[in-house]
Amino acid sequence: MRDTLTLRRPDDWHLHLRDGAMLRAVLPETTRHFARAIVMPNLVPPVVTGADAAAYRARIMAALPEGTDFTPLMTLYLTEETDPEDVAAAHASGLVTAVKLYPAGATTNSASGVRDFDRVRGVLEKMAEIGLPLCVHGEVTDPAVDIFDRESVFIDRVLDPVRRATPGLRVIMEHITTANGVEYVRAHDRDLGATITTHHLIINRNHILVGGIKPHYYCLPVAKREEHRLALRAAATSGDARFFLGTDSAPHIDPLKESACGCAGCFTATNTLSILAHVFEQEQALDHLEAFTSLNGPAFYRLPPNEARTTLSKGDAVSYPGKIDTDDGPVTVFDPGFALHWRVT
Ligand code: DOR
Ligand code: ZN
Repeated sequence: MRDTLTLRRPDDWHLHLRDGAMLRAVLPETTRHFARAIVMPNLVPPVVTGADAAAYRARIMAALPEGTDFTPLMTLYLTEETDPEDVAAAHASGLVTAVKLYPAGATTNSASGVRDFDRVRGVLEKMAEIGLPLCVHGEVTDPAVDIFDRESVFIDRVLDPVRRATPGLRVIMEHITTANGVEYVRAHDRDLGATITTHHLIINRNHILVGGIKPHYYCLPVAKREEHRLALRAAATSGDARFFLGTDSAPHIDPLKESACGCAGCFTATNTLSILAHVFEQEQALDHLEAFTSLNGPAFYRLPPNEARTTLSKGDAVSYPGKIDTDDGPVTVFDPGFALHWRVT
């Protein structure tokens, strides 16, 4: 049995770093294991313009622990007022790696997102022209649609029509949670990829709701039935280049999670790699872990994979903190519900 594994250093293709005290506290949890991350723009107020992204990037760089080698890959938050020329300039200068689409109201800080897709057509066409990818939070917000169906309905009502209307637009379906998402990606060979989170490989909806409500397992898109979790595990561990890691590690302080109206988000930056090695070993797919964490993402984004290497070794149970302290309050680390034996050495 294999007990060490060397990978190119991983990247996280979907991450929430927040700002201020939270940024300072959670950033080292990511930089310890990841060389680069696609940084989500859903701050309050959101990162909308190139100038916003430059300022946020500077705040991240200032928060980096001394001597840390980490590159934040910045994104712009797409609004109905976004200026295609501002987006193009931010891309041309190398500042911005992707644009993020939140349907208005779909999730945390998405109020400035898109309601009318016709109003962003010009930006999407510009992005297709310059090869700038669109990261998509793929859920409809129609109150008539059941929350467990919001991803599959989004594919039919929004994603497929937008992709057909904008040939050449490169799209990442982020944090897919359904077999429908997996099938849609598998059915397309060009210009489409998907990220999968760590936690959606571990939990299904029972974990959130059976035996008492578990706020630290609540995220968006919400975890679905077991059959969907199994489809995600099959996709992630398959080696298929269209699927790659985006942890969606999304810290909220405990009082905001453990509340009558708790925030969505699982904080997995701390133990993601140990959990993934566990999952890939269970699926007898350790040989595909590097593709998922370190090769498929850069290939989709047309960036070189990292030269540095990370070694994982298997041994006694790994100890990691149950909470990360921030000056705003504690953040609970995702509990996979079993002991972890793969550690980053
Ligand atoms: O669970 C989530 N948390 N899903 C999102 O889409 C947003 C994120 C956050 O920002 O907390
Ligand atoms: Zn997210």
